[in-house]
Amino acid sequence: MERRLAAGRLVIASHNPGKVREIDDLLRPFGIHAQSAANLNLPEPEETGLTFIANAELKARAATAASGLVALADDSGLEVTALKGAPGLFSARWAGPKKDFGLAMERVWREVTASGSADRSATFVCVLALCWPDGHCRFFEGRVEGTLAWPPRGEHGFGYDPMFVPEQSPLTFGEMEPDAKHALAHRARAFRRLVEACLAPPGT
Ligand code: IMP
Repeated sequence: MERRLAAGRLVIASHNPGKVREIDDLLRPFGIHAQSAANLNLPEPEETGLTFIANAELKARAATAASGLVALADDSGLEVTALKGAPGLFSARWAGPKKDFGLAMERVWREVTASGSADRSATFVCVLALCWPDGHCRFFEGRVEGTLAWPPRGEHGFGYDPMFVPEQSPLTFGEMEPDAKHALAHRARAFRRLVEACLAPPGT
């Protein structure tokens, strides 16, 4: 029998407020009281992994070891077809030390234009790692395909949201209210897999 997640306390192994807000929204209906790694003053590990899974695992393992709580980590990024999958694993790093996503989006658009490709497709990828203090971990992946928009549009969300138009929508993620983004997005899709595998639906 695969390990399931009981209601109670959990640490979200992230220092990214946009991600923490979305994961907290997704967990709340299940009676799980999440605290972020930043609120618990946990150190932010260096993301030395070569895959989304490896980085999600190292963040979740670090948070569960430091807190003694079950930890949920997210490693995610934007894969741009014309850039052969970049920025991908390096999506956060393209924003530089000041975490300036205006600059990161400009760089994506500049490099896509310079690539000479007419392909504007891109995919958001999210891997969630759920790790227990005894070292057991489970992993869940979600993806959403879409098209890059320029100039960026919308004030909602975070990161590259204002330049990403998901399939099935005329709006960028930046133009969507949180519930509309959750209906389509990579993180919510990975989370739905986690719910199916590890959590009972709310109210059961
Ligand atoms: P990391 O998982 O900490 O390496 O950071 C992933 C980066 O990918 C974030 O800082 C964002 O730039 C980008 N990213 C991941 N998910 C989203 C999303 O839902 N919207 C916009 N940008 C995202």
